[in-house]
Amino acid sequence: MIDLTINGQPRRYEGDPAMPLLWYLRDELGLTGTKFGCGIAACGACTIHLDGKAARGCVTPVSAAAGKKVTTIEGLSPDGNHPVQVAWRELNVSQCGYCQPGQMMQAASLLNEKPQPSDDDIDQEMYGNLCRCGTYPRIRNAIKHAAKSVRP
Ligand code: FES
Ligand code: FES
Repeated sequence: MIDLTINGQPRRYEGDPAMPLLWYLRDELGLTGTKFGCGIAACGACTIHLDGKAARGCVTPVSAAAGKKVTTIEGLSPDGNHPVQVAWRELNVSQCGYCQPGQMMQAASLLNEKPQPSDDDIDQEMYGNLCRCGTYPRIRNAIKHAAKSVRP
């Protein structure tokens, strides 16, 4: 039995502790905003937060989330207006959109740790989040745009 919090709600998981968190989120809880891409921690489509820090849901067993706060794209903000979400909309970042929940979760994790990231910080944080549509320049600009509104 594993107790954890998902998007602010307490949850009790009673299945196989080794099951990837991504399956639990998508298949059991219906939180399909988090995407499946590679399944081997190589694309970032499944990025969620564990206690505010980016993690790959496809290779994170549910047991690793015991006692932690899991946040998915659905829970990033109550109204869809996290600075990253606003910036993504204002700069029209998405193309097909498939990778974008993971991109936004990774970017939000970066801003949690470094509210004013440098270009190097952005490159290092985002290198593992792939986008087949090549939206990388817009993603970088959107992170900088979001950083303006999280400035203390
Ligand atoms: S699906 Fe998890 S990193 Fe690709
Ligand atoms: S927007 Fe299409 S894969 Fe990134």
